[in-house]
Amino acid sequence: MAESCPPPVTYDYSGKVAVSDSLPDSHQALLKCVHLLEGRVALLGIAEATLLASLPGEGGNGLAMTEHAGVRERLEAQPGGWQPLFGYLPEAGQAGSYQTVVIFLPKARAEVQLRLALARHLAASGGRILLIGGKKEGIARAGKQFREQLPTAMKVESVRHCQVWLAEQVTPFAEYSLDDFRSWHSVVHRDVELQVAGLPGIFSDGHLDDGTALLLDTLADTPIRSGRVLDFACGAGVIGSWLQAWRNQNDQQPDPVDGIDVQYQAIHCARETYAANGAEGNVLASDGLQVVQQRYRAILSNPPFHTGIHTDTSVTGQFLSQVARHLLPGGELRLVANSFLGYEALIRRHVGPVEVIASNRRFVVYRCIRK
Ligand SMILES: C[S@@+](CC[C@H](N)C(=O)[O-])C[C@H]1O[C@@H](n2cnc3c(N)ncnc32)[C@H](O)[C@@H]1O
Repeated sequence: MAESCPPPVTYDYSGKVAVSDSLPDSHQALLKCVHLLEGRVALLGIAEATLLASLPGEGGNGLAMTEHAGVRERLEAQPGGWQPLFGYLPEAGQAGSYQTVVIFLPKARAEVQLRLALARHLAASGGRILLIGGKKEGIARAGKQFREQLPTAMKVESVRHCQVWLAEQVTPFAEYSLDDFRSWHSVVHRDVELQVAGLPGIFSDGHLDDGTALLLDTLADTPIRSGRVLDFACGAGVIGSWLQAWRNQNDQQPDPVDGIDVQYQAIHCARETYAANGAEGNVLASDGLQVVQQRYRAILSNPPFHTGIHTDTSVTGQFLSQVARHLLPGGELRLVANSFLGYEALIRRHVGPVEVIASNRRFVVYRCIRK
């Protein structure tokens, strides 16, 4: 009992908390509103671990939840009494024990309800929930959603291009299950049918992405050599599951396909998709290629090119600069990307000679054998 309900933290709010410009606007907005934090605090959707060091107090058994594997790792390195949580499954004993729960608005609208449900599961009876997000990210609309669920909710601050909403005297949810948010859809491609798991915020939920489909076509038309495969940025695990099912249906050896992704929902869903379709391979959370130890006969990817709403090829650039060391000699990199991104020169520089094996109006599939 004593362990699950530590004494409340008292914040020494002097009004002079240092606000670092390197933090996202939503985090800076929280630092402008620390007077709203009472007791034990849970932060949901933290995007920058150094926020913790800027908050007053010692963390006081607070919770810092992220769905990004890289942020999770950086949270673990932060000093203070904050407990990191990766994703949407809290530990037993955490429910109903936070006097303040802060929700940072997620990028995907569908994820707002999931974060709200988790917040209400974690909130102490009579506690408060703060919702913070950028005006461009849709906080006004999310604030209305928030008020529909919690009638005491109101906008209390407008700061750093963000709005801060506060709901007080919250009645917590006794029950919370991530399964309530999980969906299934079927994907049929080249006579192979898969059941694919989805969660709010995951890439291409409910349908097969056109770029992924073009990559799958090449796997049927220009097969990769046999051997264990890595799917970098695996999302819901469509590529690995499809490749194994297609090979099974075509009397070929279905080698395991390991999958890595930075996002909690992707890892959770990829494991479920693999299980539902009898696919084999390890699915691991990883920021870039960080957790990859071994070398592969082939590495496949439909890599990310967005951070939120902005085009950002830095993750893929870094992946391309490191991928050669994870390919066996003669191993193959096969990657699909929007044609305008033009990865050809980067692949040639870091991996080897590159050819385009399929393209359409929007996408290109590159194939490169490690030199
Ligand atoms: C274009 S989606 C492709 C998903 C899946 N392969 C498919 O085709 O359906 C890109 C994926 O990259 C993941 N991602 C973004 N940044 C990453 C990083 N730093 N390391 C690993 N994966 C990342 C995203 O979570 C997302 O699932």
